[in-house]
Amino acid sequence: MSESALSIKNLKKTYASGTEALRGVSLEIPAGDFFALLGPNGAGKTTIIGVVTGLVNKTAGSVEVFGHDIEREAETARTYIGVVPQEINFNPFEKCIDVVVNQGGYYGIPRSVAIPYAEQLLKDLGIADKRNQTGWSLSGGMKRRLLIARALIHKPRFLILDEPTAGVDVELRREMWTYLKTLTSKGVTILLTTHYLEEAEQLCKHVAIIHKGAIVASGTMQDILALHDEDTAQKRGYRGGKLEEVFLQLTSEK
Ligand SMILES: Nc1ncnc2c1ncn2[C@@H]1O[C@H](COP(=O)(O)OP(=O)(O)OP(=O)(O)O)[C@@H](O)[C@H]1O
Ligand SMILES: [Mg+2]
Repeated sequence: MSESALSIKNLKKTYASGTEALRGVSLEIPAGDFFALLGPNGAGKTTIIGVVTGLVNKTAGSVEVFGHDIEREAETARTYIGVVPQEINFNPFEKCIDVVVNQGGYYGIPRSVAIPYAEQLLKDLGIADKRNQTGWSLSGGMKRRLLIARALIHKPRFLILDEPTAGVDVELRREMWTYLKTLTSKGVTILLTTHYLEEAEQLCKHVAIIHKGAIVASGTMQDILALHDEDTAQKRGYRGGKLEEVFLQLTSEK
């Protein structure tokens, strides 16, 4: 059997407020995959990412990252993961270069090693000229790219991106796609959430669709696209791409 980057079994999360955000989610992401986790607002995507990255305590179930349990082997599991959060959460008064280098400090990377690599990442992401500016002074799309650079400083094998292209213009979004594809070609596993379904269709090998805390479909992109029902699409007058129609088919009724 091929190695799993992420293995989630029967994951449940009920927040203190009583909201049942996850109702028994199971997911396998093979190493090297480009995986899309799709779902409407409030479906539970960020909650899954929160659990995987150790920010949210699960209620039940198990999660392993490259075979390491996220609770019993939390430190090891975390070193594999780089995360680009949905909310921009760097210190806005820090210089861009420091945002990236200081993150390396959390993984014990000496500054002498982190600085040149951070410079490289800023260059790769097209924001090298913003090196000495504060994060605050960046445009929305540049902030997203700074978050990606920060997530990569410790060379994680598994990159999780929670809506990385929200608010990013068409041209930059395509550049980001190219960059993410380069990462997967180097063996990095990627988990992506996005509301731009054509983006997932372009990039991802496997996809899972989550609705109200439960997975309603998962498989290869081809498997999911094969669920497309022309009659329903016609009746509803959908005008979107095929994946968008399948998505609406699975998430709009119940
Ligand atoms: N800290 C929290 N406390 C209580 N409820 C929460 C908390 N975080 C999320 N929720 C609830 O859990 C459910 C799932 O939210 P989550 O953020 O995981 O959705 P999402 O799929 O990421 O949505 P979006 O596409 O809008 O980002 C929602 O009903 C949300 O209100
Ligand atoms: Mg979210």
